[in-house]
Amino acid sequence: MCHESLVNSMEPGVNHRLDVLESSYTIMVDEFDELVDRYGSDVIKLTTGQPSIPPPRQIRVTIADKLVKEDMKLYKYPPGFGLPELREAIAEDLNRLGGPKINSDEVVVVAGGQHAMFVAFSSIMENGDEIIITDPCYFGYPSLIRYLGGKIRRVPTLVEEGFKLDIEAIKSAIRKGSTKAIVVADPDNPTGRVLTREEARALAELAVDYKLWLIVDEAYMTLVYEGEKSWPFKYAPDNTIGLYTFSKDPGIPGWRLGYIYARKDLSRKMSLLSRETIYSPPSIAQYLVLEYLVNWNERRSFIEYSKNIYKKRRDAMLKSLKEYIENAVLSKPHGAMFIMADLSHYIKDKRIDSVRLAKILLDRVKVAAVPGSYFGESTIYSLRFSFPGEPVERIIEGVRRIGDLLNTLH
Ligand SMILES: Cc1ncc(COP(=O)(O)O)c(C=O)c1O
Repeated sequence: MCHESLVNSMEPGVNHRLDVLESSYTIMVDEFDELVDRYGSDVIKLTTGQPSIPPPRQIRVTIADKLVKEDMKLYKYPPGFGLPELREAIAEDLNRLGGPKINSDEVVVVAGGQHAMFVAFSSIMENGDEIIITDPCYFGYPSLIRYLGGKIRRVPTLVEEGFKLDIEAIKSAIRKGSTKAIVVADPDNPTGRVLTREEARALAELAVDYKLWLIVDEAYMTLVYEGEKSWPFKYAPDNTIGLYTFSKDPGIPGWRLGYIYARKDLSRKMSLLSRETIYSPPSIAQYLVLEYLVNWNERRSFIEYSKNIYKKRRDAMLKSLKEYIENAVLSKPHGAMFIMADLSHYIKDKRIDSVRLAKILLDRVKVAAVPGSYFGESTIYSLRFSFPGEPVERIIEGVRRIGDLLNTLH
């Protein structure tokens, strides 16, 4: 044996599952964001899923005060489950928002939505389990499911049908003994779909009938523009796992805070995993959110204020998409921050896919939107446009520039 192969065979190994993450959409989205940043600040950014409004000023002032005046309390390790008073405030908040009545011991505070997904998925999944997701869906789910040794079953939703869930198709995708969970975001990223009460109930019934978990990602629960948020947990409390992140409301994505709610025995188990990974989520973020949640009036008006601004931007985006990109196929999002537009008419015959189109747009007209293929197989000729990050005039200007380019593409 030559020296070199002896050395190679003795190299320490790396968990092969990490290979899955090399090609994850999460990385692709990050890389695309970096590319956009390199183009500089004059790019019209219709990519971002983060709010453009900081948390209410009064809440920030209170926290700033605490930072100056408090003793060691702010710097201590918080409990692994999260601060008890915050877990209580979360349970109370869900109830005030019209959500399920839960106890604080059914809440696990975690470090943001990505961490919530990691803890929830790893707590229920075994090697080989099948997980049903919608197509398109939030780009974070597939890589995590594959990393955990799961198999993905995608159930398409169609832009022409408002990305409505096809409950029968979901039912047909269930395989007894293999399917472990159904995952939906409500309101949805990237489509803005909001589940109806009937759909929420039907999903919950499927979970109960087939003994599955129903994971409901409620990251945008307070951003519903028309209609009402419905709550699958109310119909199947033993089978439903709710995920939430404070990244969108009150808008602290950099502070990493979120929570999971589920029946008590599972919450306890999830907290064991959360402790082993991060021990506890950041305390300063917990104190800020606690202050926000207990000040209900402040919270309610902040939600209304942000929703009004985002709704105006959504309406402007919809109107200009219809005006400048006549042959785009889209559906009005009733929640969240995004419009998924199918641009097949302009690019399919020209063999341009969404990744190439997004780069062309950035390069030629300095407008950024996220390629639809990062969200699913059914949206490879679509782009996801987000509306919270730019004022109305720049949204209209961005869409106009895209329209001009699409009409001259050859
Ligand atoms: C539906 C959905 N779930 C989870 C997350 C991840 O949340 P976080 O940014 O707090 O990690 C996001 C982020 O955009 C999201 O849109």
